[in-house]
Amino acid sequence: MVDGNYVLQVKNLSKAFPGVRALHNVSVDVKPGIVHALMGENGAGKSTLMKCLFGIYTPDSGEIFLNEKKVKFDNSKQALDAGISMIHQELLPVPLRSVMENLWLGRFPKYSIGPIKLIDHKKMYNDTVALFKDLEMEIPAKVWVRDLSVSKVQSLEIAKAVSQNAKVIIMDEPTSSLTEHEVSQLFTIIRRLRDQGVAIIYISHKIEEILNIADEVSIMRDGQHIGTFLSKDLTTDLIIKRMVGRDLTHRFPSKTNVPGQPILEVKNLTSANDHSFKDVSFNVRNGEIFGIGGLVGAQRTELVESLFGLRSVKSGTVSINGQETVIKSAAQAKLKKLALVTEERRVTGIIPMRSVKDNMILANLKKYVGKLGLIDERKGESDTQKSIETLNVRTPSIKTLIRDLSGGNQQKVLFARWFLTEPDILILDEPTRGIDVGAKYEIYNIIIGLAKEGKTVIMITSEMPELLGISDRIMVMCEGKVAGIVEAKDTTQEEIMRLATKFM
Ligand SMILES: Nc1ncnc2c1ncn2[C@@H]1O[C@H](COP(=O)(O)OP(=O)(O)OP(=O)(O)O)[C@@H](O)[C@H]1O
Ligand SMILES: [Mg+2]
Repeated sequence: MVDGNYVLQVKNLSKAFPGVRALHNVSVDVKPGIVHALMGENGAGKSTLMKCLFGIYTPDSGEIFLNEKKVKFDNSKQALDAGISMIHQELLPVPLRSVMENLWLGRFPKYSIGPIKLIDHKKMYNDTVALFKDLEMEIPAKVWVRDLSVSKVQSLEIAKAVSQNAKVIIMDEPTSSLTEHEVSQLFTIIRRLRDQGVAIIYISHKIEEILNIADEVSIMRDGQHIGTFLSKDLTTDLIIKRMVGRDLTHRFPSKTNVPGQPILEVKNLTSANDHSFKDVSFNVRNGEIFGIGGLVGAQRTELVESLFGLRSVKSGTVSINGQETVIKSAAQAKLKKLALVTEERRVTGIIPMRSVKDNMILANLKKYVGKLGLIDERKGESDTQKSIETLNVRTPSIKTLIRDLSGGNQQKVLFARWFLTEPDILILDEPTRGIDVGAKYEIYNIIIGLAKEGKTVIMITSEMPELLGISDRIMVMCEGKVAGIVEAKDTTQEEIMRLATKFM
């Protein structure tokens, strides 16, 4: 498309998995010193392409050129040595080692006393401090990685890539767990690296973010490369159109639910953990979509996990249908017809080595036990099949292991799992994180449909358009306290932001 020397060229790359053509004849050219975004629906093949570049997967056919030299990587070490680095979405550092040990793992500076080689801790420390200073990162060199925040771990991984002289740094959905402030810090680092000539390949579903940080955008659909465009020539609508292959004029379905009577009442609820939420009071009606907004760290997840019996509270009450209830476990919560879809699918959500079907019916096994105490496989299978169709889950079959699904498709299975329990109160924690625009729309449809049937939906989301577009009322939290409860139709983004920082 554009002239210039390329640092990385992919030519006619193809890769298939059993039952899936993940990449088909993909060609992409990446120039040095730019941010090259990669976009596409869930399962479009983005992560697979990156894993081929990084030596995790071997492509079936096609070629990769780095600085015009043909390369072939059998493992990630070879890719790293050649100058390609990847910041994984699931960060994988060694938690019980210090920051500096993580940074130099496998290449510790050494010195010799006679025949004995020893690790040069002093040099390692000095090199670490110098590197962080150079990148203007504030990370202590000697603390354990376990004690760092997600964003600091991410910075550490970026520093590692820089120290390995990476020419290409791949970032697969790097901002999904970052606060707004951390995102802007990350962007500062990305821009600095770009100006030093590093090529950044940046994968994200957040269109606003892409238009902000990317110079060029490659779009993938169904394992194929649709095209590469200059970011300044793109708009949100154009990106969506090229991603899904059709116009998607409305990002939100029209709302048809009518909130009724209060079903859940929370009074002065205070966490047993002194650093978490305090004195939270609100009620939610049936047929209502109740949004919970706030910045990362506002203790929203802690609050809903307490409602669901996963964390203990010190004081306050919870009533359902006018009856005071104490919920001490997820099993009790389920009996009360509550369901919770968690945000961290890898930690609390999926069982990687089980099938899509097993993962989907997990929360609802009772429903599938027949007269003789045996699981009614047929019913489980047909419900799974139905959910797959409704949510457009991309999977070769219901027997496929869930770990082989793309990130966004795993999230859809989790959503379906709880949806199948037919809850009265469905609590969603960041339900559309990592999910593409088309599937988001389907999920909104389901949420609105549930509310229309008189069910209650409580939804934590950090995406402002979603919070404003789907909720009836919005409770904004700040530092563990309720900063305000507003009618969605009467509020603005500015008011929500003001409330979200009210006690800071
Ligand atoms: N190890 C694997 N085994 C089998 N199928 C796989 C494997 N990895 C990926 N796939 C399949 O390849 C296709 C592309 O997946 P990929 O993870 O590249 O999508 P993606 O574009 O990164 O999507 P997302 O936005 O959801 O992360 C999907 O259909 C996925 O199920
Ligand atoms: Mg992916």
